[in-house]
Amino acid sequence: MNRKVYVTRALHNSVMRALGNICEYDVNNEERLATHEELVNAFKNYAAVITMLNDPIDAELISQAGPDLKLIANYGVGFNNIDVKAANEKGIYVTNTPDVLTDATADTAFTLMFACARRVIEGDNIVRTSTFAWAPKYMLGYDITGRTVGIIGAGRIGTNFGIKAARGFNMKVLYYSRRTSLHLESVGAQRVGLEELLERSDFVSIHLPLTDSTRHLIGAKELAKMKPDGILINTSRGPVIDEKALADALARHVIAGAGLDVYEHEPDVEPALKTLQNVVLLPHIGTATFGTRKEMGFMVIRNIEAVFAGKEPPQMVRV
Ligand code: GLV
Ligand code: GLV
Repeated sequence: MNRKVYVTRALHNSVMRALGNICEYDVNNEERLATHEELVNAFKNYAAVITMLNDPIDAELISQAGPDLKLIANYGVGFNNIDVKAANEKGIYVTNTPDVLTDATADTAFTLMFACARRVIEGDNIVRTSTFAWAPKYMLGYDITGRTVGIIGAGRIGTNFGIKAARGFNMKVLYYSRRTSLHLESVGAQRVGLEELLERSDFVSIHLPLTDSTRHLIGAKELAKMKPDGILINTSRGPVIDEKALADALARHVIAGAGLDVYEHEPDVEPALKTLQNVVLLPHIGTATFGTRKEMGFMVIRNIEAVFAGKEPPQMVRV
């Protein structure tokens, strides 16, 4: 079997060097996604392919995999871009990069929460483009410390976010999850139903994977349950929110604001959102720190090494 790796998008230099130390590789060095043709070629001729969340790895592509392909190593924690079942049925491992990106992603949720509550983007714009004068009722936003945050999805990232909110900002934490999280409960968090979470929370932060059951979990009906001064944050996957319904709710001030790092039809963004002041829009940078992106790369390499050594990869995912 060959041990060549294809990388759909160049990673950090130190990661590429480390990869070069364990195997031969080819990489798409262009400032664009790998084309379908390049992906087909990679699947036909390589032993492992390092993929990104915006590479669609569907059953049709997987059906064209050559006999050498042993591993699809997704550079990221979410793997909704990959038909894992189709891969596993062909005996191809799929891996992701959990844990190393948990802090960075939870921190991005805080970035959005603070930016929304304290009108950071609006304020920066005012300073750059006009003048300002302190006044008692000028640029008022919302308190954060001591208020209630509702976490939808109590996996690694949601839990990390909740613990920081409780410990760092003395927030009351509610969470909605299939399972009890002892970690979250250890900081006083309370597990509630979705409706109760939406009704009681000042901030709602989404930390769910995208699956058939989480798609459009938050739509017009759910937004209407939130408080009028509530703020919605999403750093997980765009399609968990009905983006048109959110734009409508923000325009009508059904809720006070939203902070988004992810979109329903990335990289497209619902045009109405771009016209609103009460939403902060980030370009899917949840894990985008120098340190985190390096650690993600090294985790990918450890998975490749394991598979090339004939072992199960440590970060294997299954459905
Ligand atoms: C980023 O969105 C990831 O899934 O790692
Ligand atoms: C605000 O700048 C204050 O001093 O209260």
